[in-house]
Amino acid sequence: ESKPINVKLVLLGESAVGKSSIVQRFVNKEYTENREPTIGAAFLTQKCTVKERTIKFEIWDTAGQERFHSLAPMYYRNAQAAIVVYDITKATTLEKAKSWIKELQRQANTDIVIALVGNKLDLCEDLEESERQVSVDGESQMPADSARQVSTEDARAYAVEAGLLFFEASAKYSKNVDGVFNDIAEKIPLE
Ligand code: GTP
Ligand code: MG
Repeated sequence: ESKPINVKLVLLGESAVGKSSIVQRFVNKEYTENREPTIGAAFLTQKCTVKERTIKFEIWDTAGQERFHSLAPMYYRNAQAAIVVYDITKATTLEKAKSWIKELQRQANTDIVIALVGNKLDLCEDLEESERQVSVDGESQMPADSARQVSTEDARAYAVEAGLLFFEASAKYSKNVDGVFNDIAEKIPLE
C-alpha cells in the first residue's frame, strides 16, 4: 500500500444541520440522536482509498453557531476540500450554505474541492409502501414528503452553476456519507 496523502478537509454549515453526525458516521460508523452542538471545532482523521491512492483526511468539524463564525477562516485556510452542509427540511440552511460557499470561493485555496450536501434525507424519502397515502378512490398519491423544504433540482442546479459536487445524504441511515468522501478523494489533484 502506498504512503497516504494528507488532505485537510473542513465542514461548514448552520448549527444542527448534521455536520458532526456526518463525520461520526464516516469516521466511527455510528450515529447518535440529540447530539450536543460542537463548541469551537473538533478534529478527526480517517483514511480512504480510491484509484490506488490512499488519502488520509484531516477533518475539521466546525461549530455552526453564529458566535463561532469568526473562527472559521482558521479551519478553511489551506484546506484542500470542504463539505458545506444544509438540512433539506430547512430552507434557510441552504441560504447559509450558499454564503459559506461564497466565502470559500473568495478566501480559501483556489483549487479547493467543495461538496454541497443536503442532509436528513431520511426525513423525506424511502418511505415504506404501507406508509404512503392512498386516497378514497384507491389511487395512490405522492409519497408523504411534507418535511422537505429544498427540492433536489433547485439545489443541484445551484451546485452545478457554482462548480460543486452535490449530494443528498442521511447521517442517520448512512446514506451517501462514504460517497461524499470518496468523490472528494477522487477529485483531489495529484501533487
Ligand atoms: P453544530 O455542531 O452546532 O454546528 O451542529 P451540527 O451541524 O454538527 O449538527 P449535529 O450533527 O450535532 O446534529 C444536529 C441534530 O440533528 C442532532 O440531534 C442529530 O441527531 C440530528 N441529525 C443529524 N443528522 C441527521 C440525519 O441524517 N437525519 C436526522 N433525522 N437527524 C439528523
Ligand atoms: Mg457539530
